[in-house]
Amino acid sequence: MIDQAQSLRRSIEEYKRRKTARHRRRVRVISVASGKGGVGKTNFSVNLAISLSQMGNNVVVLDADLGLANVDVIIGVVPRENLYDVIFNNRSIEDITIDGPSGIKIIPGGSGIESLSNLSDSQRRRLSDKFGQLKDTDILIIDTGAGISKNVLGFMAVSDEEIIVTTPEPTSITDAYSLIKVALKYMPKKKIDIVINRSQDHYEADLTYQRLEKAVKNFLNSDINYLGYVADDAKVKKAVMEQTPFKVSYPECYASKCIDDIASSITGMPVPEKKAGSIKDFLNRLTYLFGKLG
Ligand SMILES: Nc1ncnc2c1ncn2[C@@H]1O[C@H](COP(=O)(O)OP(=O)(O)O)[C@@H](O)[C@H]1O
Ligand SMILES: [Mg+2]
Repeated sequence: MIDQAQSLRRSIEEYKRRKTARHRRRVRVISVASGKGGVGKTNFSVNLAISLSQMGNNVVVLDADLGLANVDVIIGVVPRENLYDVIFNNRSIEDITIDGPSGIKIIPGGSGIESLSNLSDSQRRRLSDKFGQLKDTDILIIDTGAGISKNVLGFMAVSDEEIIVTTPEPTSITDAYSLIKVALKYMPKKKIDIVINRSQDHYEADLTYQRLEKAVKNFLNSDINYLGYVADDAKVKKAVMEQTPFKVSYPECYASKCIDDIASSITGMPVPEKKAGSIKDFLNRLTYLFGKLG
């Protein structure tokens, strides 16, 4: 009897250990893109990361926008080094990682993002080994640049989930549609989640989404998915001016509530099937693909 109980307990412990080990190895990669610039991608990415972190996830944001300084401006930190220094200057991922609010970590991509397409095999191997340091990461959010570029498409291709942000403005919707069209051309099975940012209320968000969904259905014969909306909220601009994310300085504001709803939907969603699960695998896929694209 005792033997049986002991063996059962041992099996349960072993199962739990394996479950945690497996859980730790798998990272959920979500990229955030938009057709048009300035629609709120970076604010969305950072505040979503904070919300997901507050729900108990280890979250890392990769600032992959080649344009102006981005994530760091929103959290009010100036990065001294970026991914370039990891690739070429013998720095580790930990050296360049910035500790953001609520436990999130930020990796400044900087000029290192461009270099991803020209890596030698040994540079690739070393970089993916270095990314192995982030093995405890549950969710990696990639804040990509605006528009249709090979970089953005590359990030989309290696992500498990793809969020496209648009505002209710017609030009923003048209640009989102163009990005969806190209993305689906290369990745017909890609699941694309839509977030409507800067909406007055959920009615306007619903209408905006329906317009986009209709165009995608009629002209591309494809489906997209509505993930949620973020209200147009004066607190967002205020928080940007104060260089503190709104989820931190105004946790009760309308936009924060919307972000929390989206974070809940994301954590409640089943994780798509993946061929490879670790952050090292992710980086291997990324550098391989960028090499091909380059
Ligand atoms: N939900 C929102 N409500 C009000 N203003 C917003 C909202 N989202 C973004 N903004 C405004 O848009 C600006 C650009 O946002 P940002 O996240 O930098 O866009 P992107 O990364 O797409 O270029 C912000 O500085 C802010 O003033
Ligand atoms: Mg940005």
